[in-house]
Amino acid sequence: MREEPTMSQYIRLAKVQDVRARGALECEWEGRIVALFADGDRIWAMDGMCPHQGGPLAEGERRGRVVTCPWHGWQFDLETGRCLTGRAVQQPVYPVRIEGEDVLVLVG
Ligand code: FES
Repeated sequence: MREEPTMSQYIRLAKVQDVRARGALECEWEGRIVALFADGDRIWAMDGMCPHQGGPLAEGERRGRVVTCPWHGWQFDLETGRCLTGRAVQQPVYPVRIEGEDVLVLVG
């Protein structure tokens, strides 16, 4: 029987106020880079390394739900991970929960 994700599988990666204050925050969990982005009450989590050449997506410019890699301009939809600049790549995105002051991300 397959287990459904539980709260225990969500990892605490950051404080809500830290993400909101900066608009974006790069976190690391078990060697994986996760980029968190905030817009009002909304927080997104995406794999933080650009699939092109590893650019830091947390340092990219975000407009709405689209982030632009700061190195060469590839763009990604934060909801779906879809690359919007013509590349057939899918950037991993992760479910987010806010629990009190903490941002929890299902990165497994
Ligand atoms: S490293 Fe992101 S577009 Fe090149």
